[in-house]
Amino acid sequence: MRAAVYRAFGGPDVVRVEDLPKPVPQAGEVLVRVHASTVSVGDYRMRTRDLPKGLEFFGPLTIGIFAPRKKILGMDFAGVIEAVGDGVTRFKPGDAVVGLTGMKFGGHAEYVTLKESEAMVKKPEGWSFTDAVALVFGGHTVAECIRQCPIKPGDEVLVNGASGAVGTSAVQVARHFGAVVTAVTSAGNAELVRSLGATHVIDYKVEDFTRNGKQYDVIFECVGNAPFERVEKSLKPGGALLLVIIDLKGMLGAGGNSRRSGKRVIPINFKPKPEDVAFEIELAKAGALRPVIDQIHQLDQVVEAHRHVDTGRKRGSVVLQLAD
Ligand SMILES: NC(=O)c1ccc[n+]([C@@H]2O[C@H](COP(=O)([O-])OP(=O)(O)OC[C@H]3O[C@@H](n4cnc5c(N)ncnc54)[C@H](OP(=O)(O)O)[C@@H]3O)[C@@H](O)[C@H]2O)c1
Repeated sequence: MRAAVYRAFGGPDVVRVEDLPKPVPQAGEVLVRVHASTVSVGDYRMRTRDLPKGLEFFGPLTIGIFAPRKKILGMDFAGVIEAVGDGVTRFKPGDAVVGLTGMKFGGHAEYVTLKESEAMVKKPEGWSFTDAVALVFGGHTVAECIRQCPIKPGDEVLVNGASGAVGTSAVQVARHFGAVVTAVTSAGNAELVRSLGATHVIDYKVEDFTRNGKQYDVIFECVGNAPFERVEKSLKPGGALLLVIIDLKGMLGAGGNSRRSGKRVIPINFKPKPEDVAFEIELAKAGALRPVIDQIHQLDQVVEAHRHVDTGRKRGSVVLQLAD
């Protein structure tokens, strides 16, 4: 099979397309012919080992010390089940599916195997593989957020980093649950986030949302510049800070900050679950979540896709297409 492989840490150019043996599904596993995946910030972090402050000391233990442990990036996939191992009952060959490999990666290849119990559901009929896959990374993260902090009608919700993969999903889902959404982004993305359901837009180059005196029930922090210390005054009493991105200090301090302030500081972990994929797909079927695709690249242009992700300016998802 053809796969985008990286054998050293570094910039986009470390990624190359290679021929590798096609995997064989073991008992309980399915073999998916991947049609589309995305190049995400998760791939960027693995490739560069650019991790939130403090975590760079622990990261190499899982990512690799001298060379990458996982040679194929890609945390998500949409494709068709080609074969199943013994004992598989949830899926059969020919089923179109969408899901997440998460920290096992491997989506940037023509084939991937995973356990049938992992984070995967049937792709709704009529959806393209590219649309389906563009939803999952951000949508799944937001599903985890909503599980930990349900949004109520009338809640005032601020999304910091509203135009990224997670932010575009957060704006839509918060609006769906009846929140009044404030999106923090740059001027060029104001129209996009309004079209997704934001009522107010703050251009972070012009206004600092932590200094305008406004308070919110829930803040989604998707940038890495709004730790609790900075946003405490922007949260209403009893409000919640969802730390989609968090450094070591934030992680260690979350419990103490919550107890001291009476405001909830919630670190979000990326642990793919079938029920969260099902939840986001149901939201999308109901029209509450639509994919936002910035660019689509063929496998041979995988380096270009990584380059765009590295800018930190992508809008929604950058899709890698591996089959029609
Ligand atoms: N904990 C978890 O489970 C989990 C899951 C997924 C992602 N993450 C983390 O969450 C973060 C966001 O992920 P993502 O996939 O959404 O990233 P992304 O798609 O790369 O985000 C790019 C967007 O960030 C915006 N941005 C950059 N600087 C900004 C600023 N100062 N203020 C407001 N917006 C800004 C950019 O908009 P402009 O061009 O307008 O600046 C761009 O549209 C990443 O750090 C990722 O590692 C964590």
